[in-house]
Amino acid sequence: MKSNYQQVSDSVITYCRHRRLRQSEALRSLVRETRVVKSDLIQPLFIVPGSAIRKEIPSLKNQFHLSVDQCLREAEALLKLGITNVLLFGIPEEKDEIGSSACKPDGIVQRALKNLKKEFPELTLTVDVCFCEYTSHGHCGILKGQSIDNALTLTELDKQAISLAEAGADILAPSGMMDGCIVSLRSALDSAGFQEKILMSYSAKYASAFYGPFRDAVDSSPSFGDRRTHQMDPANSDEALREIASDIEEGADIVMVKPALAYLDVISRVRDNFNIPIAAYNVSGEYAMIKAAAEQGLIDGERAMLECLTSIKRAGAGIIITYFAKEAAPLL
Ligand code: PBG
Repeated sequence: MKSNYQQVSDSVITYCRHRRLRQSEALRSLVRETRVVKSDLIQPLFIVPGSAIRKEIPSLKNQFHLSVDQCLREAEALLKLGITNVLLFGIPEEKDEIGSSACKPDGIVQRALKNLKKEFPELTLTVDVCFCEYTSHGHCGILKGQSIDNALTLTELDKQAISLAEAGADILAPSGMMDGCIVSLRSALDSAGFQEKILMSYSAKYASAFYGPFRDAVDSSPSFGDRRTHQMDPANSDEALREIASDIEEGADIVMVKPALAYLDVISRVRDNFNIPIAAYNVSGEYAMIKAAAEQGLIDGERAMLECLTSIKRAGAGIIITYFAKEAAPLL
């Protein structure tokens, strides 16, 4: 230990020179433990009906509602920057009680998938599998009275997933926190010949205030009630481990913790307890907070962005879904 510790004059007190390795960027880089790289990132995209539409989303600065043709241009720009993963959300023409437009072969996300797959086979296409963007009441599934019927919703989720798989989705990400959705989707996809399609489960998704800007972007706020009967209580992390364990048992290929920043401890516990790829969703509210603070000159937005992305990876998530993907790419 002599070489690391410095004797302070004649006293017996010794101390470690931690600063020795921080003297230059070259040294700091040499001993850096965590590096966020472009291939860690998934950029969400919001697809709307129509053509030639590229309209900034009021609640999400620098994120856009894109018509299918414009989503192709965006994908091209992302690929040029080295981002090869996107997550698609759709805002349909019409919403109804059961979210039927989510399962149509010519549905909004299905159209985007077909075009993206054809033009950019090198892009990995992830899709949200949920009904809240498609139902008139904004709930994530099929209602019986005032609450979501789990079994009925599973049947509909299977249909939606098969329709998205047929259109070209590579990774299906059910975000509705329905019990049994992974085993149900796995067997539905396998029976339809889609054994190779990947399931990324929103396993530990919390009932969070940080989804606010997203719900404005896709107009999916529930018309009554909330999502606390299916999304998790923010106070719980043992329960997150139980959710993850059952999704792995049911056949999930990737598990997710969402949101990311207020749940870094959960990500870390999942990392310590399981050996499976972990994704974290750096959600809309987390993005919007940094943007708003930077706009007001309260923080350096670029540094805050990189620091947050690094913290998510350091906590243990190898996959980060983030609205910052495009902006961060040139800096990585
Ligand atoms: C549900 C879904 C939500 C988000 C992704 N998928 C919203 C919700 O649960 O209300 C939130 C993403 C974000 O806030 O960035 N389909």
